[in-house]
Amino acid sequence: MDDFLADNRAHWEELAALHPGTDFYDVESFLAGESTLLPLEREELGDVVGEGTRILHLQCHFGLDTLSWAREGAVVTGVDFSGTAIGTARDLAAATGLDDRARFVECDVYDLPATLDEAGAFDVVFTSYGVLNWLPDVERWAEVVAGFLAPGGTFYVAEIHPFAHVLMDLELEAGRPVPDWSYFGGGARTYEEDGTYAAPAATLDSTTTHEWAHGLGEIVTALLDSGLDVEFLREHPFACFEQFPGMEVDDEGRWWLPEGTNHPPLTFSLLARSPE
Ligand SMILES: C[S@@+](CC[C@H](N)C(=O)[O-])C[C@H]1O[C@@H](n2cnc3c(N)ncnc32)[C@H](O)[C@@H]1O
Repeated sequence: MDDFLADNRAHWEELAALHPGTDFYDVESFLAGESTLLPLEREELGDVVGEGTRILHLQCHFGLDTLSWAREGAVVTGVDFSGTAIGTARDLAAATGLDDRARFVECDVYDLPATLDEAGAFDVVFTSYGVLNWLPDVERWAEVVAGFLAPGGTFYVAEIHPFAHVLMDLELEAGRPVPDWSYFGGGARTYEEDGTYAAPAATLDSTTTHEWAHGLGEIVTALLDSGLDVEFLREHPFACFEQFPGMEVDDEGRWWLPEGTNHPPLTFSLLARSPE
């Protein structure tokens, strides 16, 4: 498992160096004052976040969403295992004058309880888009989430739908579906990946990654087992990036398959609360 983690970290170190310069992340607009949060999470979580709300953002990449929550008044802690990402996040916090309400911790998600001595101290734990597939163990992840929430606190995730992973690289053999991705998990899948979702033409040195599938049932059950009450689980027909060729983006940043498609679920969002 340590080797898997080392490969993934090396891959993300490289992506963290590349991504701030991409149009996809558009750091210039963020510096000019724009939020990188999508309407989905702003609408579904926005009411919970106000002046002084303590947010823990897991797998925050280089901090744009974390700092966007800080702009809404929250006091934020971003966590990521890439030192490069965390360094850039700290620079952006300083550049935007948000460093009095934003801090960033370089840490593996599973090591966080041993690193950040703030169990039960957060009003909100937030995570989004492209996070769960990097985690081998959803039950341990759910325990980390629950452990950092204050009584009555809110957990929110907006994420690529596990069924959308199945649809990517789906082959048919004699009419039968032969997915490359196993919806029901089944251990690590190792890939050689060049380019990234934000820089498809990039040539990488660290191309080996290991990812894990987690179905919706596994995710919800892990959160319930951790003691959280799930308030809603919603499935959405749009994606947060151009997941399939020919998708079109609307003015809310939602990517759609062509009109007339019987839309499959591409995104899910879930809100859960810690008991009072
Ligand atoms: C797809 S990105 C999240 C993207 C984020 N929604 C954004 O657009 O900024 C996934 C992040 O998870 C981080 N990551 C992956 N595995 C991790 C782990 N075990 N512990 C902490 N961070 C991890 C990576 O470094 C990367 O920044």
